Parts: sequence; C-alpha cells; structure tokens
Amino acid sequence: MYDGEPQPGRNDLCWCGSGKKYKKCHLEIDERLQELYEAGEEVPVRSLLKTPQDIEGVRRSAEVNIGVLDYVTPLIAPGITTEQIDQWVYEYTVEHGAIPAPLNYEGFPKSVCTSVNNEVCHGIPSAHVVLHEGDIVNVDCSTIKDGYFSDSSRMFCVGEVSDEARELVEVTKQAMEAGLQAVVPWGHLGDVAAAVQEVTGKHGFSVVREYGGHGIGHEFHEDPFVSFVAEAGTGIIMAPGLMFTIEPMVNKGAAAIDMTDPNGWTVRTADGSLSAQWEIQVVVTEDGPLVLSW
Ligand code: MF3
Ligand code: CO
Repeated sequence: MYDGEPQPGRNDLCWCGSGKKYKKCHLEIDERLQELYEAGEEVPVRSLLKTPQDIEGVRRSAEVNIGVLDYVTPLIAPGITTEQIDQWVYEYTVEHGAIPAPLNYEGFPKSVCTSVNNEVCHGIPSAHVVLHEGDIVNVDCSTIKDGYFSDSSRMFCVGEVSDEARELVEVTKQAMEAGLQAVVPWGHLGDVAAAVQEVTGKHGFSVVREYGGHGIGHEFHEDPFVSFVAEAGTGIIMAPGLMFTIEPMVNKGAAAIDMTDPNGWTVRTADGSLSAQWEIQVVVTEDGPLVLSW
C-alpha cells in the first residue's frame, strides 16, 4: 500500500492493534490514503497514525505536562532564576510518576528549556540567569509517562513588560491558534504554516525557518517535521491519527538565528531582537484537531 506495508484482509485484525476487524477500523482511512498517494500526494506511513489507546496514553502524559506548566505559572516573577524553574519542573514531574523528556536528551543537561528575551529556543536553566521585570521567557516542558511523550510551551511576561514585548508574545499566541484552526482532517500540513505566517506577517514579525514542530507520541521527535514557513496546499496530508506539535518561533526582527553558543544548545536571534514561542500538541481526528497538551 501507500507505505509499502501489506494490506490486511477485510476480516483480519486491523494493523493498528485495536483488536477490531480491519473493515471496522482503518480500512476506510487506508483506502483514502492510497488514493491520495496514487494521486501524487505525500501521505503519512501508518506507524505515525495514533490509535485510541495511544491517544489515551499521551493524554495521561500530557496531564502531567500541563500540570507542570500550571504549577510554575504563578511562581514566575522578578528575582527568580531559571534554575528554580528547572527544579520545580523536575520535582513536579517526578512526583507525578513521570520523567522530564529533555533531561539527558542528546546531552541536554536540564529538565526544561527556558529561553529569555532574544533567545529563540533551547535556553538552558541556570542559577546565573535571574529573571528581571520586563523580561519575556518561554518555558518549554516535555514529559514521558508510561512511554508516551507530551510537549508544550508557554510564554511568560515577567512583571510589567514593554508594549512591544507584550505584542510579540500575544501575536505569537494568535499565530499558534491560527495554526490550530488550520488543522483540518485530510488537509495539507502546509496550511498550518500559511495560517501562522498570515498572522505574523501582518505585524511585521518573522517566523524562524530552521526549527519547527514535529510528530510525537512514542518518541520525543517523530516525523513529520512541521515547518512554519511552508506554503498552503503543500506537505503531508493530515490524516486522522497524525499527532504533532504546533510551535512557531517568532522574531520581532529578522528571521535569522545564531546557533554558535558554545553550550551547543541555546539559539538566539541573529539581530538581537526579541523572540517568542508558544507550543501545543494536537492529534488530527475526523472531527478536527484534538489538543492534547498546551
Ligand atoms: N521541547 C523542544 C521541542 O519542542 C525540544 C527540546 S530538546 C531539548 O521540540 F533537549 F532541548 F530539551
Ligand atoms: Co516540541
């Protein structure tokens, strides 16, 4: 079939492990994907399509991930360090029977990413980084629970921030929400990017090109790569069961980034301008997107 795997018989058990007969489970979806594939469209391989059991597993992981972000929200204030955020994330996650996904991920030394002001992503929490009134900070949390991954991030304004900082934070959130609205079953993934850029473009902000969202569920980062600079009508088909993150990184100035930090992680805007990001995790259903983590 479309992914090179054999097709079960109508009365065989479905390949997804639901225990249902194929004709009562993925047959219809497979037929539609096969048609699209033959028409030259890019379609997801079936191992990327999450089953109801997978979605339930991710939902339980996301319960902790959302809980972490809710827990740190009222604690973020002028005078705290990003190291403290890391400790809160670690403690909450472990107390809830889960593991912070960033910890030791490809050598990442902490439990969460904290990216301040001109940092685009992958800021490393540190006792030397004190949050001051007027800063903006992204807290990017990812959790593993019972083998399922969840991932979302939020922006925080530290005390009173400038109008320009607040506008960047709010517009980036609107861009992420516009991306969510563009998740339509059987649509193209590029539609999400186009919706994001329509919002950011109106405000003269730029979308980072090198980073994007990603498939997620059984692994931290699965296919597809979710670009936020792609064009409408392009990219992979958003088949029901496809799970991915929507996490545009938006710069006040130019889109160019600086990846030369000797720590090997922290990414900054090349021109020193502010950067913001919001991230949610969704799964496509026949009725539209289901938001799993935020
Ligand atoms: N949470 C990031 C994402 O949204 C990934 C961070 S990788 C880390 O994809 F190692 F820096 F944590
Ligand atoms: Co992510």
